[in-house]
Amino acid sequence: MGFLQVLLFLHLFQKLSAQSPPTNNATSLDALLQDYSFRAFVRRPRTGILYDAATVPSDLTGIKLSAVRLRSGSLRKHGVTSLKEFSIPKGVIVKPYVTRLVLVYQNLANYSRLYYPLSGYDYVAPVLGLLAYDAKNLSAVNLPEFELTASNDPIRIGFTDLERIPQGSSAKCVSFDLRGKASFKDSVQPGNTCETDRQGHFSVVVKSVASAPSPSEGRTKKKKKKESSEESSRTWIIVGSVVGGLILLGLLVFLVLRCRSYKKEEKIREMERAGETGEALRMTQVGETRAPTATTTRTQPMLETEYAA
Ligand SMILES: *[C@@H]1O[C@H](CO)[C@@H](O)[C@H](O)[C@H]1NC(C)=O
Ligand SMILES: *[C@@H]1O[C@H](CO)[C@@H](O)[C@H](O)[C@H]1NC(C)=O
Ligand SMILES: *[C@@H]1O[C@H](CO)[C@@H](O)[C@H](O)[C@H]1NC(C)=O
Repeated sequence: MGFLQVLLFLHLFQKLSAQSPPTNNATSLDALLQDYSFRAFVRRPRTGILYDAATVPSDLTGIKLSAVRLRSGSLRKHGVTSLKEFSIPKGVIVKPYVTRLVLVYQNLANYSRLYYPLSGYDYVAPVLGLLAYDAKNLSAVNLPEFELTASNDPIRIGFTDLERIPQGSSAKCVSFDLRGKASFKDSVQPGNTCETDRQGHFSVVVKSVASAPSPSEGRTKKKKKKESSEESSRTWIIVGSVVGGLILLGLLVFLVLRCRSYKKEEKIREMERAGETGEALRMTQVGETRAPTATTTRTQPMLETEYAA
């Protein structure tokens, strides 16, 4: 095994062990939930009726989904007074224009922080999503989201049960655009209401208290989640250290052997030089091996073990 192979192997290994578990991707979550929310529709869904999805993927248990099919004209003229926590006023425009659209409602429940991590903030409400899709094909998957724009009054989100807000903290509205970019509005309106003029994901947060003396229930849950991910990365670190250590050990042994054989060659060369200059060599017992030495002893030949020591 040459040096280059060792280095290449080390490099590959480093890359492998640096690979973190896949990050939770809110964009692909939306695509998945679009599919599941469309399955809420019965075979001939009635326009304007909100259908709750009966199933969500088993690894997303707890997420709630609903969907309603609407005519664009009706949405614009009348709005939707209550789509779960959302209240859509009249004057909402959908782009691109289609005759019928589907509004999808998501409640990410205890997955909010997982898919919309916000450092420095704690969620006091679940992340709620409001998204619009084309209603042409109710079995379609991977549909692009439509643009919803409130042209007159804003869309209101009335969060029903906020977690207890720590004393001295003030709640902020947070909204995420379709790329997951967060923007904050300083204060929650009376009645725990946030406002928006477009589609996206919404929640209520408070600034994290760095050293909370009495961890709340939400905090404990978060900790558990963090612990399990820490556990998997710890496993990686252990496996990495063991394999890395073995490789380093191999490398070290290789280097030592290499060094010793170099020294041996050097000694032989030196002896050859001595021979060329006409000095008589005779065999001498050194330790347990016999080695050639010069009569006029300049350097006493030693065992390699002594060199290596
Ligand atoms: C999320 O996944 C989509 C495709 O599923 C990809 O286009 C996008 O770049 C991903 N985003 C991140 C932040 O990984
Ligand atoms: C969320 O809660 C549900 C029960 O409501 C549970 O089955 C699920 O494992 C939880 N998920 C996370 C990520 O905490
Ligand atoms: C609807 O979408 C599904 C899934 O993409 C596809 O198999 C089906 O052919 C589509 N139906 C129509 C009428 O376009």
